[in-house]
Amino acid sequence: MIQKSEGRINDFITAIGKMMYPPYIVQGGKKNLMIEAGVNLVGPMYLRDIKDTLGDINRLDYLFVTHSHFDHLGSAPYLKRQIPTLKFGGSPIVGDVLAKESVINRMNQMSEHQRDAYKDIVGDEDVSIETIPLDCPLTEGDKVDLGDFTCEVYESPGHTRDATSYFLPEKEILFPGESIGLPYIRDEKKPYVIFLTSYEDYLNTIKKLSALKPKMICFGHGFVLTEDDVDIYFENSYQNTIDYKKLLEDYLDKANGDIKEAVSIMVDGEYGSILDGEIPQEKNAYIANITVQLNLAAKMRA
Ligand SMILES: [Fe+2]
Repeated sequence: MIQKSEGRINDFITAIGKMMYPPYIVQGGKKNLMIEAGVNLVGPMYLRDIKDTLGDINRLDYLFVTHSHFDHLGSAPYLKRQIPTLKFGGSPIVGDVLAKESVINRMNQMSEHQRDAYKDIVGDEDVSIETIPLDCPLTEGDKVDLGDFTCEVYESPGHTRDATSYFLPEKEILFPGESIGLPYIRDEKKPYVIFLTSYEDYLNTIKKLSALKPKMICFGHGFVLTEDDVDIYFENSYQNTIDYKKLLEDYLDKANGDIKEAVSIMVDGEYGSILDGEIPQEKNAYIANITVQLNLAAKMRA
């Protein structure tokens, strides 16, 4: 089954904010954990939803992020300012990334482009992204006790170097962020492929997380999968990653190895087909991603 990342997912998981950028609140018997921090401009809405879900914002104990992209950790600094006891966790690399002023500036610039779309939510609140300390550096095998169940940490590189997935073993629920791609509703055989740092790592991550045999996957954007759709997703995501690399190579061939030219003809050939998906990607973000991917594909062939 596939459902939107909106509202109550089950009796202890709630997707908050916007379906496009949905943090998940996981309510354990003793501790409450939020996975993903979405974009900063939605921060005030996340805060309201945290209060609605937990009764009191100060009942949120942890905020763990899946990687250091601005649309996955964006609201973390704002939420830390509102909830000073909140413990912020993720890969140690996330801490390093957030310590760089140039990165912080770029993240703020990228989110500013979207301000108009979220002006009703953000109003004139200060939601700026700033350096915050990583209270919980999380690495492979770490376990966090939430009360009646635990949250396990799995390093899952390939999308980014710092990609981290969270798994609730007693509940068989996985939060991969974007590390195994995203469901693409228009054609379930073609999950969205987002390796940006390593094709090999990305394929290995799909294999590794599929071996956990989750019964539910709560993705970093848009959707939650359950039942048979989980297994089908892993198979399709693995195969489509292989097919997608071939597609990148075809475009490189058509452009005689010229990356700029390959980007241009790939945008013409492919971008239109993703616009009518349920998660339409902004064109500049699409161009940025395929530029990185075409460079990777070219390097692998060299
Ligand atoms: Fe990402």
